[in-house]
Amino acid sequence: MFEAYLVDWEDFGPDTVEEVRQYMNRTPRSREIYEEVSEYIPLGVNSNQRYYKPYPLYFTRAKGSRIWDVDGNEYIDFNMGYGSLLVGHAHPLLVEAWKKQAEDGILYTYPHELLEELAELIPEIFDIDMFRFSNSGSEATMFASRLARAYTGRDKIIKIEGSYHGTYDYMLVSSWPTRGLAGPRRMPVSVLDSLGLPEDTEELVRIVPFNDLEPLKELLEEEGDDVAGLIMEPIMMNAGIIYPKPNYLREIRKLTKEYDIVLIFDEIKTGMRAHPGTASQILGVEPDLITLAKAIGGGATVSLVGGDEDIMSLIAPSDAPRYQGVIHAGTYNANPFALRSVYITLTQILTEDVYPQMIKYTKDLKKAYEEAFGKYGVDAYIETFGVSGAIMFSKDKVWNFRQVLESNLEIWYPLFFAMLNRGLIPMATGPEEMWTVSVQHSEKDVEKYIELIDVAVSLMAKADQYIKEEEE
Ligand SMILES: Cc1ncc(COP(=O)(O)O)c(C=O)c1O
Repeated sequence: MFEAYLVDWEDFGPDTVEEVRQYMNRTPRSREIYEEVSEYIPLGVNSNQRYYKPYPLYFTRAKGSRIWDVDGNEYIDFNMGYGSLLVGHAHPLLVEAWKKQAEDGILYTYPHELLEELAELIPEIFDIDMFRFSNSGSEATMFASRLARAYTGRDKIIKIEGSYHGTYDYMLVSSWPTRGLAGPRRMPVSVLDSLGLPEDTEELVRIVPFNDLEPLKELLEEEGDDVAGLIMEPIMMNAGIIYPKPNYLREIRKLTKEYDIVLIFDEIKTGMRAHPGTASQILGVEPDLITLAKAIGGGATVSLVGGDEDIMSLIAPSDAPRYQGVIHAGTYNANPFALRSVYITLTQILTEDVYPQMIKYTKDLKKAYEEAFGKYGVDAYIETFGVSGAIMFSKDKVWNFRQVLESNLEIWYPLFFAMLNRGLIPMATGPEEMWTVSVQHSEKDVEKYIELIDVAVSLMAKADQYIKEEEE
């Protein structure tokens, strides 16, 4: 993740300083809350990524495409819960179902009858044999890794440099390593993302670059027999958006089969993003396990791991006592509130017919951004996948994380503030993030975004110019 807390807005010159001043004038109550709560809650937020300088906005309510902060400012929201809310905020069908569910109880810790319908629906939509629900994406990838280790009897997991799969110990490796630490480009070293990780994490989580098969082949030659799983997003969506090169995923599939390694596609961001299904289905490569979260729940805390029966049934091996299987457990797993949300989202909201309009809006935004980049001479382009788009702060097409690191990420900051001050959240917080169009965004919302792109990109260009002049 981009380290937003390191940004200093004065580095971007007088126009950005003025935007930040306006931001502070418009949001005194957010500032007050931040100052109060950060005494007790580190950085004043409950997920590091939510913090940015000078202080984050605090919100009170959201509906449709809009969200309101504590000072009463209204924003058109194109963050949409880091892409979890393809349904938009407070979708009427979900609100109705949630109200009813609240009356019927939201936590039973017993199996719920909706499982019967979901047990048919989920395998059909996502092409999997079996699945289990959890609550967060992190839990889903943690269980996927555990299943891979159990299935192979091996310990190591291979991960792609610059990818994020969750916030637990044996996955917080090289999600966003800095250049000084990351090692050679073609043979990256494992860099721990956090203090407090077990000492053996570097040894157990091995890193390869995206879109380059040779380093993977070399690693497998040396360590392949110790590798349980390879986890990756089929399209990288945590360092902007990076597509796989032709045949790359097919070769990965071949290699993982050759070494009997469980291939896990983390579809937490890519799933439901371009159609009601996975990116793997679009790309025509079948992993052994997938993980899903975010969009499937319409905003509810829910995730799942699913895939081949051979692997999933290790949770309940028929020929062994229960404790010899893979533990998958959780008090809140598959609670009625989450199940209801998944069922309504998948059957009544994110249906095939709603995608063309959302995808068109994303293409309109791409066009507007790229016109503005041309007009103001900013070296950047837009990559999109389905209903989401990301600014790639580079003149050349980006194929891997090292190119992202080399790009001009900082100039995201003035763009973000220019849009916030004019009533629009352009994307999730950070230059590596993206916008998401929901079913509740209207033509007018997109027109407003397009109108602001010109202003915001011109400010970005000025900041870029200022930085270059300062460096000379
Ligand atoms: C690809 C991917 N995997 C896993 C996760 C972790 O999900 P969660 O934040 O729900 O734990 C994320 C979160 O952004 C993600 O983008």
